[in-house]
Amino acid sequence: MTLKILGVSGSMREGSHGARAIGLVLEAARPLGAETRLLDLRLLDLPMYRPGGGLSGNESVRAANESTGWADAFVLASPDYHGSMSGALKNFLDYHWTEFAGKVFGYLCASHEKGLTVMDQMRTAVRQCYGWSLPYGVSFNGDEDFDASGVKNPVLARRLRMLSRDLVTYGSLIKEQFLRDLEDDVPDTFVARYRK
Ligand SMILES: Cc1cc2nc3c(=O)[nH]c(=O)nc-3n(C[C@H](O)[C@H](O)[C@H](O)COP(=O)(O)O)c2cc1C
Repeated sequence: MTLKILGVSGSMREGSHGARAIGLVLEAARPLGAETRLLDLRLLDLPMYRPGGGLSGNESVRAANESTGWADAFVLASPDYHGSMSGALKNFLDYHWTEFAGKVFGYLCASHEKGLTVMDQMRTAVRQCYGWSLPYGVSFNGDEDFDASGVKNPVLARRLRMLSRDLVTYGSLIKEQFLRDLEDDVPDTFVARYRK
């Protein structure tokens, strides 16, 4: 099975370090057999989520939904804004629920600190949607860890490759088991509620 990975960049800043890190994770995933796409929320201009707000005809909403449905696994990147994920990323997550079930998520955070509270928030939202999270995330200080040509911190470069490898490996395992559980008639699995 080819794993399809969607990167979602939650920074509205041109030249975002989070967007650069996602690019590296996706680049490292392709030789491992993954297909990749990037959803850059800075370019997408997703409207503020409104339940029942008649947004289904909106082109940006349609594109986000299509890519989310396409993906088997995700890598989310957020800047650290007041110890929280960005509003843009939370707004993207608010559009989705059952589409995240049985899919593995990896987390990146651009922070001057460690970004732990930010990644915990992403993890909480994903868990609430029955998505699976890698047990660690990768944070970086953009000005110290990157230069014009890319990552200058070799430890960060290695951690991004590790996240990419683990996302492909564990994303494939969870996805395959999820699909098997959808097909089977085992009642005592969380997947039972997703059967049509
Ligand atoms: C409104 C705002 C709040 C921020 N709050 C924090 C913060 O609480 N902790 C921190 O380490 N950095 C904070 N920063 C700095 C950003 O996290 C940092 O510049 C990051 O690299 C931006 O990510 P990006 O390069 O992907 O856009 C804040 C920046 C802004 C604009």
